[in-house]
Parts: sequence; structure tokens; C-alpha cells
Amino acid sequence: MGDRLKDKVVFVTGAGSIGPGWGNGKAAAVQFAREGAKVFALDINTAAVEETAGIIRSEGGAVETAVCDAAQAASVEAAVKAAMEAFGRIDVLHNNVGIIDPGTPEELTEAQWDRLMAINVKSLYLTCRNVLPIMVAQGKGAIVNISSIASTHSLGYSCISYSASKGAVNAFTRDIALNYGPKGIRCNTILPGLMNTPLIHKGNVTEVYGSTEAMVKQRDALVPIGHMGDAWDVAHAAVFLASDEARYITGIELVVDGGITLKVR
Ligand SMILES: NC(=O)c1ccc[n+]([C@@H]2O[C@H](COP(=O)([O-])OP(=O)(O)OC[C@H]3O[C@@H](n4cnc5c(N)ncnc54)[C@H](O)[C@@H]3O)[C@@H](O)[C@H]2O)c1
Repeated sequence: MGDRLKDKVVFVTGAGSIGPGWGNGKAAAVQFAREGAKVFALDINTAAVEETAGIIRSEGGAVETAVCDAAQAASVEAAVKAAMEAFGRIDVLHNNVGIIDPGTPEELTEAQWDRLMAINVKSLYLTCRNVLPIMVAQGKGAIVNISSIASTHSLGYSCISYSASKGAVNAFTRDIALNYGPKGIRCNTILPGLMNTPLIHKGNVTEVYGSTEAMVKQRDALVPIGHMGDAWDVAHAAVFLASDEARYITGIELVVDGGITLKVR
């Protein structure tokens, strides 16, 4: 156990994982706790968030949970209230939740577009709307938003709603950093690259790549460092930005991608 986040309360959205193994939100929640934070973990999926909480508790960490849709105003308001009742403060807001829904504007329905934007962008507005007044009153806070290299680079196929939403996350981050810096609040974003998480094993992997092994091999070969990253790479970056070690860092886009965005594709 470390102490880089000792006595801090961290509020994490999407703290479960959509499949077996480690997603970014699950790893971040566990790593925050391993660094001494008390974690308030929120997820739409009861089993997923309870699994994360169980891991934290089994390691002796402090965690409370809420089952909530991060895109629903009343739900987020209730979760923030529950976090305050449980821990009395919120020092770090980790906006991890996000979904991907590939397609061009012609392929995506209006409902698909609206749902993705609500989860990937509106959720940040809702958490910030509720958490910022708490951080302002405390005179201090750190927000870490999870974006993607899709916000700045093409993934090689159309996922226009995802790319546009993550571009919005970057702009949202800069606005908060600029306007809340004078109130002691930092806000940064992480841009993960190709990460080997349960998310990429969902969908028609066999149809597209032939097998899971072929997919991993193909994606690994694209990365200058030689392999995809994993959820811990994102979690470690999040711990740094959430901690006081990053006290003079705000408004940045921290790219965690093994160098893939350095390449001309
Ligand atoms: N995995 C990658 O390769 C990759 C790459 C770049 C960026 N990202 C970003 O990382 C973030 C999350 O990654 P992850 O691996 O934790 O994802 P994940 O798909 O495992 O989802 C994490 C959790 O979010 C929950 N969730 C989904 N919709 C929700 C909602 N409306 N309200 C509350 N919870 C909800 C799911 O139930 C799940 O437990 C996303 O923002 C994603 O865009 C991932």
C-alpha cells in the first residue's frame, strides 16, 4: 500500500468493467485505494461495481458504492450526496465512464448518437455540476477526465460520435482548468491509446481478425513500444494527476499510448 492519495476521497464513474479482467475504471478505483484513498465507486451495473468494491475491501481499503446511470441528472445528484454522507468530502473526481459505438452519421441512429453523447459528455457536466461546489468550498480539488487518442487522431475506421465526444472531453477539461484554477481546482485529461482491456474483446473480434490472438498481435504491432497498454497504465497516470505530485499541472492532455500517435498512418 502506498500513500500518494492518503486521506483523499476519490469519486469514480464507471468503476466496474464490462467484461472479465481489468477495465480502466476498475483498475483506477483499485489503484486509488492502494495509494490510500477512500473510494466512492459508481457504476450502472451492480455486479460490476460490487466486484471492484470487493477487491478494494479484500485489500483493506475503504470503499462505498452507488448503482447509477452517470448520464442521468437525478442519479448523479443522489450519488454525490451519498458520497458526501459516507466520507464528508470529495477531493478527486475521476470521470472514467465512456462507451464507443462505431459508425458514420449515416449508420448511427439519432438514439445511438444521443446515448453516447449523454454518457461520454453530459456525464462530465453532471458530475462537475454537483462536485465543483464541494471542491470550491474545500478550496481544493483535482478532476481527471478520460478521453482517448480518438479525440486527436483517426482510429482507422469511422467512430464519429466517439471521436467527437472525446474532443468535447478535451475542451471541457480546458474550460474547467481555466475557470476553476483560481479556486484551487485542477482539471486534466488522459488520452489512452490502444489498450488491451475487456472493451476490445467485445464485439465481432473473430469476424474481423480471425481470432483474439490475431487481434492482439495485429494491434501490438502498431505500437512503437511493441505492445498495447493495459488498464494499469491508465490507472497509474490517473493516480499521478490526482495526487499533489501534479499540483502545478492543469489543463493538459496526457497521452498514454506507447507512442502510437507519433506515427503517420
Ligand atoms: N479500453 C480502451 O481501449 C480505451 C481506449 C481509450 C479510451 N478508453 C476510455 O476509457 C474509459 C473506460 O474504459 P473502461 O475500460 O473502464 O470501460 P468499460 O467498458 O469496462 O466500462 C467501465 C464501466 O462503465 C460502466 N458504465 C457504462 N455506462 C455507464 C453509465 N451510463 N453510467 C455508469 N456506469 C456506466 C460499465 O457498466 C462498466 O462497468 C472510457 O471513457 C473509454 O472511452 C478506453
